[in-house]
Amino acid sequence: MSGLVYRPATVWTATAGSVGDESSKTLPPDEETAPVTKLTGELDAVSRSNQMWGKRPDMIVRGRVPFNAEPPAAVLADGEITALDAFYSRNHGPFPDVAPEQWRLTVDGAVDMPLEVTYDQLTSEFSAHSVVATLVCAGNRRAELLNVHPIPGKDPWAHGAISTAEWRGARLADVLRAAGVHSAEGLHVAFAAPDVAPEAVPVQSYGSSIPLSKALSAEVLLAWQMNSEPLPRAHGGPVRAVVPGYIGARSVKWVTAITVQPVPSQNYFQALDYRLLPPDADPATAAPGEGISLSSLPLNCDILVPGDDQEIPAGPLTIRGWALAGDGRTVARVDVSLDDGRTWQQADLQPAISRWAWRQWSITVETPPGPLSLTARAWDDTGVTHPESPASLWNPRGYGNNAWAHVTASAR
Ligand code: MTE
Repeated sequence: MSGLVYRPATVWTATAGSVGDESSKTLPPDEETAPVTKLTGELDAVSRSNQMWGKRPDMIVRGRVPFNAEPPAAVLADGEITALDAFYSRNHGPFPDVAPEQWRLTVDGAVDMPLEVTYDQLTSEFSAHSVVATLVCAGNRRAELLNVHPIPGKDPWAHGAISTAEWRGARLADVLRAAGVHSAEGLHVAFAAPDVAPEAVPVQSYGSSIPLSKALSAEVLLAWQMNSEPLPRAHGGPVRAVVPGYIGARSVKWVTAITVQPVPSQNYFQALDYRLLPPDADPATAAPGEGISLSSLPLNCDILVPGDDQEIPAGPLTIRGWALAGDGRTVARVDVSLDDGRTWQQADLQPAISRWAWRQWSITVETPPGPLSLTARAWDDTGVTHPESPASLWNPRGYGNNAWAHVTASAR
């Protein structure tokens, strides 16, 4: 670590927190925050944004700026590792444009030797590790919650705000240890990034935090590669945090500052958003810290093929999907029902490719002509399954839908 610059110690205070001070920044003039509409005239713009960010033309664009897009469900069934052009993209602000040679990471707070790390130092002075991990947005499968009650102002993510990649980078633990991280109980590691989120109140740059105990786990990376390619700008290039087993929101992209502190990040996306409010709460008046902070993932599964309302030929049908047990636990079984849960058959589970990745599954069934109602549920190695209905999970921001998977189709 000879070349690392040790910076004078800074003292973390609750008011300084990790809230960005970028409220004065304005968006580039050609970028708008309007959501995509279904007007034909918008289609060109939608294809342009997919092309601009290296995405497949059939990505479902939920917003152009900030760019938000998910692949059609069937594309995710193509393989256990998601191709870069199909990986979902979830953003709260326009992408920063930081060249590797400009990028700097500061590490401070409850550390003995605050430091500043360049891209060269991160990639050459720390050992590199690879982790195959699934990222899933807390809003994945919100569309099913929207069928229960409206959720104003939130995108109707369907089945595609989830993807899996092989990430390569330095262990966050190694960087924290190089800074002489303190070992007191209950510390948190806050990440800050330069992208400014117009939806935040007040407007601020993106940030988030994880407990120090998780930050020191071997699977948590400061990644500069995704599927053996340099980390694309749309996914946080040149460097992002990857926090396997936690909601995607904690894997902060374009990360430029890390602060070890006694409390969770005060950033809007940690203190206010990405929290599970009770059904009768009003998100507009919720106070910071209200609701359950989402972090570790719950057991979940989904059906990717056939797609919603797809017409398929009667006869043998291969149903495909994924299951994920959450923070390092394992999926033990996936059951599929063709009669709304009265009877079940066991699906074939693919071998686990990583402790931190989904397991894909499939089952071939005989389908008579007529409407099809397909249900899937997973079990983990503690013998637990997940809730049956989205109605029992509905919450005002539409997060954390891990109800049994359900797809209707028809066979002809
Ligand atoms: N990091 C920054 N800096 N800005 C963001 O808007 N979005 C978060 C997280 N990290 C976000 C971020 C959310 S909500 C998710 S789900 C994941 O990034 C999505 O990562 P991806 O776009 O690479 O799929």
